[in-house]
Amino acid sequence: MYVCLCKGVSDRKIRETVADGARSWREVQRETGCGTQCGKCACVGKTITRDAITAE
Ligand code: FES
Repeated sequence: MYVCLCKGVSDRKIRETVADGARSWREVQRETGCGTQCGKCACVGKTITRDAITAE
């Protein structure tokens, strides 16, 4: 499922980014661009990131 339409970032991409070493929402943003345009996806993106980090 797409989380970020502006940058075409899926929840899977966010989880992969965390698996590849991202340790914060800011790092996920930097790696994927998620939430860096309109910002509407930031809340969901942050939640998925937190979830993925906790599950590591
Ligand atoms: Fe993610 Fe717009 S939907 S920045």
